[in-house]
Amino acid sequence: MITSSVSEAVEAITSDHEFVIFNGPCQVLMESIPDQSMGMIVTSPPYFMGKDYDRSYKLSDFYDDHRVIAPMAYRILAEDGNLCWQVGYHVQQNSVFPLDFAVYEVFREIEGLTLRNRIMWHFGHGAHAQKRFSGRHETILWYGKGTGSYFDLDRVRVPQKYPGKRHYKGPKKGEFSGNPLGKNPSDVWDIPNVKSKHVEKTDHPCQFPVALVQRLVRALTKDGATVMDPYAGSGSSGIAAVLEGRKFIGADTSLAYCQIAESRYQAFKSGKLEYRPLERDIWQPSKNDSVAKKPEHFWADGETSWWRESQASR
Ligand SMILES: C[S@@+](CC[C@H](N)C(=O)[O-])C[C@H]1O[C@@H](n2cnc3c(N)ncnc32)[C@H](O)[C@@H]1O
Repeated sequence: MITSSVSEAVEAITSDHEFVIFNGPCQVLMESIPDQSMGMIVTSPPYFMGKDYDRSYKLSDFYDDHRVIAPMAYRILAEDGNLCWQVGYHVQQNSVFPLDFAVYEVFREIEGLTLRNRIMWHFGHGAHAQKRFSGRHETILWYGKGTGSYFDLDRVRVPQKYPGKRHYKGPKKGEFSGNPLGKNPSDVWDIPNVKSKHVEKTDHPCQFPVALVQRLVRALTKDGATVMDPYAGSGSSGIAAVLEGRKFIGADTSLAYCQIAESRYQAFKSGKLEYRPLERDIWQPSKNDSVAKKPEHFWADGETSWWRESQASR
């Protein structure tokens, strides 16, 4: 459901509703959410980079908003809850500022929050920079409430590179050394970002891929938990939450984005939602795909035939 009434939103999430979107400022919603009622808060806030929803181009506004939100997020987080803040860079006059520095600076003032991981999200597509190396990563700061916040690694293990590897010495010599459930996915995640041809693309300019949040929800929340996204946008966090059997409450000031989120939820309910599964491998073109072939004019004059031949036999 979508509502612009904060009491209706809070009432809905504390009763039976699975997916609630508040159309209004997250600060207003968070003020009304009961203490310790959210299992996880996950979000990507505005970067103040001139998007239509950014109220300014000022980094100081990013700090100001976070100083208001951080204590509220802590208050509404469950005793063993987790908080995940995904950010990129604020760029001004050719100077890049990593926004996780700002998040770290503000969140370190909240006693009781523990930084558990700084995850690098690597993705393959984006603008081709001319004055610096093209940006192909952003970060997620994962904080736990206290030091023992909920974490279930086994639910998010990934296949080993060498499952047949064995111990080569010691008492277990000759036995398989890997965990049959798979390996730890590490703190570098390669998950495609949502660009024009992605199955999840909506009219929102900077959506989360569902898989990114799904891994967090799966590892960092208990069954039955409620997930909150204060800057919900197209509702990707909500989709990840309901795919994992969790409840969701989000806020967004744009009615159009709230409606996108709600229609994605309705598609999920009717079994028609398209999303990229977390387990799917990154697509690699084969050498016979036309996109993988170098057009004739890319070959520099004088390029040696051995190079062409080695490419052709790859
Ligand atoms: C970076 S986008 C988040 C996109 C989202 N992760 C998704 O998957 O679509 C930030 C969102 O915050 C919303 N927004 C900006 N200020 C807000 C506020 N004070 N409260 C709630 N939402 C706000 C914008 O409309 C925008 O959709």
